[in-house]
Amino acid sequence: MKITNLGTAARASFYVACELYKEMLVQPSAKLGLATGGTMEQVYSELVNLLVKNDLDVSNVKTFNLDEYIGLSAEHKESYHYYMQHHLFSQYPHFDQSKLHIPDGKATDLDQEVIDYEQRIQQQGPIDIQLLGIGENGHIGFNEPGTDMHSQTHVVDLTESTIKANSYYFDNESEVPRQAISMGISTILKAKRIILLAFGERKREAITQLLDGKVDTAVPATILNAHPNVEIYVDDDAAPQ
Ligand code: PGA
Repeated sequence: MKITNLGTAARASFYVACELYKEMLVQPSAKLGLATGGTMEQVYSELVNLLVKNDLDVSNVKTFNLDEYIGLSAEHKESYHYYMQHHLFSQYPHFDQSKLHIPDGKATDLDQEVIDYEQRIQQQGPIDIQLLGIGENGHIGFNEPGTDMHSQTHVVDLTESTIKANSYYFDNESEVPRQAISMGISTILKAKRIILLAFGERKREAITQLLDGKVDTAVPATILNAHPNVEIYVDDDAAPQ
């Protein structure tokens, strides 16, 4: 595991956008595992700049998002379907929509949806680059503390800490969904290369625990110590002291 402090979120976002761009440039049928959240917004905006400037053909790129809230439609402004359209897919509208995968949080049969999503990743994978943010509580995707390290795509109950952190994006805390569909920890670990970003002081503790090297189910991100190809990019505030 390699950590790089690029000083600012702007620099780290630009660096990671370049890595994603390069992957799609050298491998037109690249498979990208995508993440959402505030951390990724600048990554996507830099990536869109690169794609537009260079007019890259992305029609064969496949994407698989980490997670989605249960109960929010694709049109809901806080759904991750909406987020991805808004920050990436509609900004560079040359992706083939049939190759863009996000769990369906409105599926009538959620048990079947998680099985199908996992199967899609297993059959079409492995993912070349998996982007990850990290929760203050150490979650990756929506794999909250205590998640089975062997988990596949599953339905999760969000913790109070995550509900509180994510209420920033909603009008009030009561509107934050209490459940989500998330790739499991074992799903994430199957990616060939993992890039995790963390910005701001509130992420420092989780990054410090991750770098400790011990795997602890109370801090799900620590399982990344078991993966051979993980890069972490932080700003000054998230860098361990
Ligand atoms: P954030 O979320 O980028 O909005 O901080 C990251 C996460 O919870 O994984």
